[in-house]
Amino acid sequence: MPCCVFGLVQRTLLHTQDAMMLWVALLLFLSLPVSSTFGASVPGPTRTPRTSWKRKDISLLEFSEPGTFNYSTLLLQEDKGMLYVGAREAIFELDLRNVSVMNRKVVWNVPDKEMNVCAIKGKSKETDCLNYIRVLEVQSDDRLYVCGTHAFQPMCDVLFLGNFTLEGTQEDGKGKCSFDPAQSFTTVMVDGNLYSGTAYNFLGSEPIISRNRHPHGTLRTEYSTSWLNEPSFVFSDVVRENQGSATGDNDKIYFFFTEVSVEYDFLGKLLIPRIARVCKGDLGGQRTLQKKWTSFLKAKLVCPVPETGFIFNTVRDVFILKRDDWRESVIYGVFTSQWDNVESSAVCAYSMSAVQDVFSKGKYMQKSTVEQSHTKWVRYNSILPTPRPGACVSISDRQQGINSSLDLPDKTLQFVRDHPLLEDPVEPIGNSPKLIAKDVHYVQIAVERVLALDGQQYDVMFIGTDKGILRKSVVFEDEVHVIEEMPLLSKSETIKTLVLPSNGARFLYVGSDSGVVQAPTALCEKYSTCEDCLLARDPYCAWDTGKDSCVSLLQEPNRPRQNFVQSLQGDADQCPKGNSPSCEAYELVQVQPGSAFKLPCQLASNMAKALWKFNGKTLNSSQLHQYSAAGLVIYSAGPDSQGCYECWAREEVGDRSFSWLLHGFQIGLDLRPQSTMAGVDRGRGRAMNPKESSTAQPAGPNDSVLIWAPPIHLTVAPPVTNTPHVEPGEASAKYLQSNGSSTVLLFFTLLFCFLFLATVSYNCYMQYLPGPCLSMRAALLGRKKSPPQDYQPCETGLVASVAEQKKPNGVSKDIRDTGCEKGPSGSPPSHTARTSTPTEKPCDADCERQSIEYADADTPP
Ligand SMILES: *[C@@H]1O[C@H](CO)[C@@H](O)[C@H](O)[C@H]1NC(C)=O
Repeated sequence: MPCCVFGLVQRTLLHTQDAMMLWVALLLFLSLPVSSTFGASVPGPTRTPRTSWKRKDISLLEFSEPGTFNYSTLLLQEDKGMLYVGAREAIFELDLRNVSVMNRKVVWNVPDKEMNVCAIKGKSKETDCLNYIRVLEVQSDDRLYVCGTHAFQPMCDVLFLGNFTLEGTQEDGKGKCSFDPAQSFTTVMVDGNLYSGTAYNFLGSEPIISRNRHPHGTLRTEYSTSWLNEPSFVFSDVVRENQGSATGDNDKIYFFFTEVSVEYDFLGKLLIPRIARVCKGDLGGQRTLQKKWTSFLKAKLVCPVPETGFIFNTVRDVFILKRDDWRESVIYGVFTSQWDNVESSAVCAYSMSAVQDVFSKGKYMQKSTVEQSHTKWVRYNSILPTPRPGACVSISDRQQGINSSLDLPDKTLQFVRDHPLLEDPVEPIGNSPKLIAKDVHYVQIAVERVLALDGQQYDVMFIGTDKGILRKSVVFEDEVHVIEEMPLLSKSETIKTLVLPSNGARFLYVGSDSGVVQAPTALCEKYSTCEDCLLARDPYCAWDTGKDSCVSLLQEPNRPRQNFVQSLQGDADQCPKGNSPSCEAYELVQVQPGSAFKLPCQLASNMAKALWKFNGKTLNSSQLHQYSAAGLVIYSAGPDSQGCYECWAREEVGDRSFSWLLHGFQIGLDLRPQSTMAGVDRGRGRAMNPKESSTAQPAGPNDSVLIWAPPIHLTVAPPVTNTPHVEPGEASAKYLQSNGSSTVLLFFTLLFCFLFLATVSYNCYMQYLPGPCLSMRAALLGRKKSPPQDYQPCETGLVASVAEQKKPNGVSKDIRDTGCEKGPSGSPPSHTARTSTPTEKPCDADCERQSIEYADADTPP
């Protein structure tokens, strides 16, 4: 059946230009129910970026060295003005203000002997067995601690910044750096100690969270699936909880990872995002948990969509926005789903005090005995040992003679060894994602808190995708506004690292497999009107009424603030009201009568709609004018077309709507004799812009008037007359060409009509239908050997507009040519003729067979 239907459609449409579009539409249509069962079932605060910049619009600075790849480790040193980059076999020192300037470089490769050992173990010499620099941390003012995978035999060394050389104090990197360059991994240096989440063995099967370079020796996790079960580490950082703590609480190091859940019975592996933490002062236990964490606890980090119960169960990256009071710090996490068919990402935010509550007050879970429950882990409800298992040693503990974890009673230690998992989940602020994005995979996040002109602070999120795009959003109380998206990488590859300098960052830095990119944090100067500047709702940008331009507040710290207008609520009415310019000031364009032309008008915002006015009256799309993506098309210029055209942008923010003038044109008719088919006479006027500022549009249009005469128009264009003459058929032919979605709709309607008629005609032709049909068939076929007219009626309707402009005897050939049959007559051969020579038309023969089967199957025996 499908082949029959498609075959019929194909025969008619294969060679028309729109056939391709129809196929795409058909495929989309068919796949819709499938995808909607998964992808579309994720409701929530989905937002599209207001502005989508082109890469060429952004002034990016880039660094890469030929032959060097995997620039995935970045270390910012703002006081030195340097960015250190760990790549494959090399470490670079770049200038923070301009990363394309490389100061120094050191190469660190693997000696042949180790390389061969690695190759013998079955790894690739060209890739796996190289040295991927994955740890780059500050050891002291003039030294960096560096580790690399070193041919699956991780090594660490110290980089002396004085002469930028490795000191050669090669230390075993086991437990500090991964063996496998492709394996997930996290590390953080806290007070000279290196905390890592990685794998401890060659196979990558033994996960470990460890503290290295500590006077009391290395501390690590117990090797047990209830501690860590196939984790993918994404992030770790310290939270200084000791500061201002009345209980003498300890600083904590938090780890974020996704692991295979132990607590749920699930067909296959159910992933679950985790937050785990250890105390900085942990020294391990005396007898129990010797050289192991006594303070390792973990909890679920949930990012649920309340309406559906859907949970984003893979954490991809985390950023801790730190505040002076650690309780006010906020954890931002980006999440995706374990299931590939859900192409969505979410951002959830967690308050540090909620995290603290879970860890200090939450219930523990314990392994259940089989007969007790159908889940593998249940809540522990009995009495807890004291001090609380997993808690840091506090002032009250010290008063009881417990000075460090070494003094903790065995009961507490045994409990925490067997119950590292807390039952209570860490729930996001507002209990739902801040943001959900469809059809995109978020992989990196950095957040900055920005002071806006209204005196309030706003969190601005910079999020990197696996396609090299950066999205910037601002977090409001009840919504997230996606300000813009910028493609940062020249090809579609994942953003490996994203770093943001601490205060008032004018630039951010991203690392990828192919290089390092420095990008501005705001593109204020690209907004050409005050309305665009304010509706961007970017806390970095304000409209400078003195300069009449959109400026970055970071770049203008000294200008008087009363010159600036900013509205993060998106109230464009705060823009100064200019005098509306008159028609005479607009760009003058002369067009030839009868020609078609296009007035360009590019909107900066994805949220805005264009609104054209002609002599002050709103123009709607009609047979004479057509709104297109980047302007207004006027099909046939005539005396009525002369006058003033204005392009207005209209954008809605909440329930308010704002309009502003973008472009104006003055159209006049050029009545000189025509020398070319489509002549252009650029006007004497100047390009008009309401606020006299430069026209900077994100999609980079040329502001020229395109005069354009489509081929169909040219062949049937009447000699130049003063009366505009537009045939309805002519307009609809163009309609078909110019508007994609309408074309699809139109085709669907025609397709169904066509299919119906085709089926009737075919069955009639095959004599499956009685009476009247047979007589019609006789009338058509009886006299001479003419081709079957099976789908003539609908076809005629379909191509009426085209047919009018073609020679009558050419019609059937053009439309029916399938590319398979090349009959000399130009008409499709009859059914019998076709089956007698099947080899000549393999394509048609195939489908014809299928359609016979179909017809037979549908006929009662
Ligand atoms: C390193 O970069 C190359 C080239 O882009 C890429 O093919 C490879 O997957 C990267 N390897 C790792 C471990 O990231």
